[in-house]
Amino acid sequence: MARFHKLCDGFGLETSEIDLAQPLDGAGFREIAGAFFAGQVLALRGQKLTPGLFHAFARRFGPPEPHVIDQFHHPEIADILILSNVKKDGQPIGLADAGTYFHSDYSYLDVPARATMLYSVQAPKRGGQTVFANQYAAYDDLSAAMKKTVEPLVALHHYGNRDDLDEHSRTVASLLTEEQESRMQWVRHRIARPHPVTGRRALYAVSGSSFGIEGMPEDEALSLLDELKRHATQEKYQYRLSYGVGDVALWDNASLLHSATLTDPDDPRTLWRITVKESGPAPPH
Ligand SMILES: [Fe+2]
Repeated sequence: MARFHKLCDGFGLETSEIDLAQPLDGAGFREIAGAFFAGQVLALRGQKLTPGLFHAFARRFGPPEPHVIDQFHHPEIADILILSNVKKDGQPIGLADAGTYFHSDYSYLDVPARATMLYSVQAPKRGGQTVFANQYAAYDDLSAAMKKTVEPLVALHHYGNRDDLDEHSRTVASLLTEEQESRMQWVRHRIARPHPVTGRRALYAVSGSSFGIEGMPEDEALSLLDELKRHATQEKYQYRLSYGVGDVALWDNASLLHSATLTDPDDPRTLWRITVKESGPAPPH
């Protein structure tokens, strides 16, 4: 049994006692999946992975779904998206400045992301953390009246960042080509969404892809979503995760918002990312 340590008082677990390069049997996986759903963010420090090993681990959690931005897929395994600020021969080797606003991954898809996993290949000297906000706690702390208000509400989601539609900004959602844009549709998700594995209610994607509420006038919907976002992203719900080289971090998108932090473009940082969807059997918890 590996020892897991808390990342902070509220949520998050880490361990240095699991080696993902070794075969992972059913009991070993149950231990990791249990820590993942209990901790919401799980850091498995000091790994040494090939693309194949990383991919095989990710697939235990659900079916990987390549990102709509397909310019930076790993040449060996397309399910791996390369996040990087490094340039080779003047050309970027990965997607830079991705997701630098609070959002939940793939909340703009009908079947959203169960888990996002990052493998840190090259860590910057400064910055490059991921900030998480606990949406179980944010939901629990709503007043009884607000819980009643949001209970029946369904938000309308689309690819993008509701609070930054300026294509030249570094905090806009990564830009899509016309063809990629044409594949995106409006989808519906409950605001007080029961977690598909644990059943516990969490506020879901009130920042990021939510642009409206079904059956509600636009200005009223936006003002409610903005109020919920202000509540849900307060400092008291946050934890800031730092990465060393070799660290794997995975997080539960159904119970968290997260935001990347901007890094110095001259301070090299590269991560591999795999996102798995909520379809497929639920992992043990
Ligand atoms: Fe993200």
